[in-house]
Amino acid sequence: MEYGEERVVALVDMDCFYVQVEQRLNPALRNTPCVVAQYKTWKGGGIIAVSYEARDHGVTRNMWVDDAKNLCQDLQVARVRELHGKADLTHYREASVEVIEVMSRFAVIERASIDEAYMDLTAAVQQRLKDMSVNRIDPSLLKTTYIQGYPQSSSESRGLHQWLASLTPSSLGEQSSAGLQLTVGAFIVEEMRAAVEEQTGFRCSAGISHNKVLAKLACGLNKPNRQTILPLASVTELFNSLPIGKIRNLGGKLGSSITETLGVENMGDLTRFSQAQLELHFGDKTGRWLYDLCRGIEFEAVKPRQLPKSIGCSKNFPGKTSLATKEEVQFWLHQLALELEERLTKDRDVNGRVAKSLTVGVRQLGDKRPSSFSRCCALVRYEATKISSDSFAIIKSLNTAGNQQAAWTPPLTLLHISASKFSDAPSSGGITGFLSTETSLSQSRFSTSQLSNKSSLDAKSVSPCKQQHGTIQSFFQKATERPTIQKDGEEEVSVGGKASPAPKSASESHSGLNPNPPSGASEDLLTCDRCSQEVLAWEMPEHNDYHFAMDLQKSFSSSSSSSAATTSCNISSSSSPPPLRGGVTGSAQSSRVKTKIRGQSGPAAKKLRSQGGSASTLDSFFKKN
Ligand code: CTP
Ligand code: CA
Ligand code: CA
Repeated sequence: MEYGEERVVALVDMDCFYVQVEQRLNPALRNTPCVVAQYKTWKGGGIIAVSYEARDHGVTRNMWVDDAKNLCQDLQVARVRELHGKADLTHYREASVEVIEVMSRFAVIERASIDEAYMDLTAAVQQRLKDMSVNRIDPSLLKTTYIQGYPQSSSESRGLHQWLASLTPSSLGEQSSAGLQLTVGAFIVEEMRAAVEEQTGFRCSAGISHNKVLAKLACGLNKPNRQTILPLASVTELFNSLPIGKIRNLGGKLGSSITETLGVENMGDLTRFSQAQLELHFGDKTGRWLYDLCRGIEFEAVKPRQLPKSIGCSKNFPGKTSLATKEEVQFWLHQLALELEERLTKDRDVNGRVAKSLTVGVRQLGDKRPSSFSRCCALVRYEATKISSDSFAIIKSLNTAGNQQAAWTPPLTLLHISASKFSDAPSSGGITGFLSTETSLSQSRFSTSQLSNKSSLDAKSVSPCKQQHGTIQSFFQKATERPTIQKDGEEEVSVGGKASPAPKSASESHSGLNPNPPSGASEDLLTCDRCSQEVLAWEMPEHNDYHFAMDLQKSFSSSSSSSAATTSCNISSSSSPPPLRGGVTGSAQSSRVKTKIRGQSGPAAKKLRSQGGSASTLDSFFKKN
C-alpha cells in the first residue's frame, strides 16, 4: 500500500438538506424549484437552501426571495419556522438525527455538521474483501458511482467500466490494491445511501477516498444523489485547477494567507515548494501538513462522534433593538431558556445524558467582537425559570447602570446561552440523582472567561469554560478566552475559524493563523459560504442575518448619495460576524428608543431616520414577520 492510501474514508452529505426536509413535510414541494428562506419582511426573505431544480434557474443561497422569483417565476418558498421569537430549526435537527441513526448502522461515524458525516471504512472494507468470493466486481452494485479522473478517454460518462477494468486481476487476490479498497468502500456507501433514502426519504451524495479532505472534495464533484470515488492518482490533475480555498480547512484565513504569501492560486501549485519552504512560512506542523496535502495525502482521524457536545441558542439585538433595560435582558434570557429547556429535556430523554455547565455570552453595543463576555456556572436543573435566573445572576454585574436602576448599560446586542459538559444521566434513582447534584449558585461559584479585562470580577477565578475548546464556545467564547483580545482591533478574532485551539508553537502562532490541520473536535458546524467561517448549525440563522443585514446596508449605500453612504447606521457598528437581528416586543420598544437617543448609536439612528424610506425599510427588516 502506498503512503497516504492506507485508509478508506467517506463523507456523506445530504442534498439540499433543508429543502428535502420541507419537501417531506409538504410533498407538493417535491420535484419543484423550491427554496427555504428565513424571515420575510425584507425582499421576501433570505434564501438559505435551494433545490436542484431551482439551481437550474440560477437561484442560489443568500439571494433574496424577491430576486430569486425574477429568475424563476414559479419558485416555491418554504419558511424557517419561528419559536420564542427566533428561528426554530427543530425539524432539520430531528431529520438530521434520523439520518445519522441510519448511517450509524453501517459504520462508526463522525458527524461533521447538521447534514454530513465522515466514516472510516478501512476495517469494514477488509472484512468485505475477506468475505468476497467473487473475483469480478459487479457494476450493478455501483449504480450511482462516478470515478474522478475516469474515463481517461471519452467513453461512458461515469468512468466506472474503465476503472473496474483497471483494477488488475491480481488485486482481487491476496494483496488488495488501494483501488479495490476504494471500490469496496463505494459498495458500502451505495448501500448506506440506499438505506438512508429508504428509511428517511432523503437523498444524499458521498465522496470515497483515502482521507477526510479528499472525501469531502469528492462528495461535491457529482451532486446530487451520486457518489464519487477519488483515487489518489487522480489528485494531481484535479488539484492543478482547484483553488486553494476549496479545500477543507483552507477556506478561511490560512487559505488566503497561502495565496498571498506564496503567490499561488491552485492547490497543485503548492507542490512546487519544498517541505522546508512550507515549514518556514507556515510553521513546522502546518508546513508538513501542507506538503502532504497538496499531494492528496492527509491523516486526520475520523473521530467517533454522533452527538453535539453542547446545546445552545442565541439571539441578536442589533442597533436600536439592543437590550437596554434589565427587564428586557431578563425577558430574552427567559425566551432563550425556554428553548434550551425544551431541547435539553429532549436530549436527556433521547440520549440519556445531562449537561452540567451553563454558559452565558453577551455582546455589548459598539463591541465589534463576536462576544464581549461569557461566563459559566453549574447547570442545576432543566428548567427555564432557573436557567434564566441563573443566567441573569452571572451576567448582572456587567450592567454598569447599578442595581437600583431599571436600565442596562451598555445595552446588549447579543445574548447567548448554552449547556455543555455532558455526562450520563443517572439511571437508577433517575431524576433524583440528577437533582441531588444541584449546588446552589453562590457568588463565589461563578467564574469568568474574561481573563484580563479588569472589571469588578475577579479575573483570576477558575474558569471551567476555558477548557471547552471546540464546544459552542468556539463560536462565541473563543474571543473572550484569549487574553490577548482585549480591545477592539488589537487582534482579529477568528470566529470559529477552526474548532480546535491554534497550534502553540511559536513559529505557528506568530502568524496569527489557526490552520488546524489535525483538527480538534468539530461541532455541528456549517461553513458559511459568504465568509468561510464555521458556524454552529443552530447559530446559522443569526449568522445569516448578519450577512443579510450587511447586504441591505450595501444596497442602501449604493443607492444613496455619497454623503448618505457614510450613514452606516447601526448595522455597520458591528463589522464582524456574527449577525444582526432582533425581534421587537411591545413592552421593550419605548425604552429601547430612549437608549438609542442617549446611546452611541444615536446620531447614526437620526441620520438613518432622515433617510426616510431607508429608515422604514430597515425597521421592517428588523421587525418580525
Ligand atoms: N445552511 C444554512 N446557511 C448556510 C449554509 C447552510 O442555513 N450558510 C443550512 C442549509 O439550509 C442547508 C444545510 O445547512 O440545507 C446544509 O448545508 P449544505 O450542505 O452546505 O448545503 P445543502 O443545502 O445541503 O446543499 P448541497 O446539496 O449543496 O449540499
Ligand atoms: Ca448538504
Ligand atoms: Ca453539508
